Amino acid sequence: MKIAVFAGDGIGPEVTREAVRVLEALGLSGLELVEGDVGAAAWRKHGHPLPPQTLAIAHEADAILFGAVGDFECDNLERALRPEQAILGLRKELGLFANLRPARVFAGLEDLSTLRLEIANKIDLLIIRELNGDVYFGEKGIRILPDGRRQGYDLMSYAEDEVRRIAHVGFRAAQGRRGKLCSVDKANVLETSQLWRDVVLEVATEYPDVELSHMYVDNAAMQLVKNPGQFDVVVTGNIFGDILSDQASMCVGSIGLLASAAMAEGTKGLYEPIHGSAPDIAGKGLANPMASILSAAMLLRHSFGLEAEARRIEDAVAGALADGIRGGDLGGSHGTAAIGDAVLERL
Ligand code: NAD
Ligand code: IPM
Ligand code: MN
Repeated sequence: MKIAVFAGDGIGPEVTREAVRVLEALGLSGLELVEGDVGAAAWRKHGHPLPPQTLAIAHEADAILFGAVGDFECDNLERALRPEQAILGLRKELGLFANLRPARVFAGLEDLSTLRLEIANKIDLLIIRELNGDVYFGEKGIRILPDGRRQGYDLMSYAEDEVRRIAHVGFRAAQGRRGKLCSVDKANVLETSQLWRDVVLEVATEYPDVELSHMYVDNAAMQLVKNPGQFDVVVTGNIFGDILSDQASMCVGSIGLLASAAMAEGTKGLYEPIHGSAPDIAGKGLANPMASILSAAMLLRHSFGLEAEARRIEDAVAGALADGIRGGDLGGSHGTAAIGDAVLERL
């Protein structure tokens, strides 16, 4: 079990430390943790946010536990050197195309949601976000038009095989859950989305047991707060999935609670909280490490098939929450280490 640990910037190292303590506490045989530099921290040390030695560690590892990257001091660097390129580069280089972002309200913890109780108690959805394509990876730049005006552009595109493989992930996930898949797009305006919808419909013929629906992304954003219980599995492109998953985190209670898995074909995966480096609270011991700890649980489940251990971690987190252990993001006063301690105690 070779696990690369890339803690990164801001609260990344703070929350990852707690997730590592949890992993170590399980006493798994063969567990080997290898640290590597990413993000602004790596840029300062090695001149690049994703240096070759880090990439080599990532290639050798069975799984990666990732913290967060991002630092305002780097916001004016040329794009290739910005911290965010570390996570984008890892996703692309390792072919991590399928991003699983589950959003589930723990039983009895409906009051954490910013939604009304009777709406929050039905939330158990899985956002499957495509991670290797879309407007993220198309041609982009800022150019000067003939009349002298500056114009920014980012090309949005999906090739049919890219849509097909994420659609299969969506249908298979739905088969393993409540059998419902909602494909989110903007086919009423975007050709990229029209192809997306056409290909999803083609793939659907292989999954007659799955109930497929389509929804425009603006409506999906609305439905997510109106009636989130209607969703089982949501499959969508890179940018829509990015935005909808931050929103889904508040339906559950906080962005400090949402974990994610970025999977390649097979069991290799990168696991990270969906939140960023949170520069506003970094270095203060205030970050909620639960999303990172829950990412470690996903790592055990999806890369190593350790379902029982993953459940133990999730139950320990739910138990801590049920006992009133809450970070500032949830209106509580527990700090990062105290939350880590509380989860460890219950483990
Ligand atoms: P963010 O997720 O870092 O923070 C948004 C808000 O949520 C902030 O108020 C923050 O304090 C709060 N928050 C986030 N995580 C929290 C936690 N665990 N506990 C308590 N509060 C938490 O998003 P942002 O402010 O838009 O971005 C900050 C930086 O992070 C940027 O540089 C951005 O590019 C980067 N980022 C990185 C990743 C990643 O590494 N995967 C993800 C998102 C954003
Ligand atoms: C996320 C983040 C990243 C993304 C950024 C930091 C590149 O927002 O993981 O959700 O947009 O994918
Ligand atoms: Mn995001």
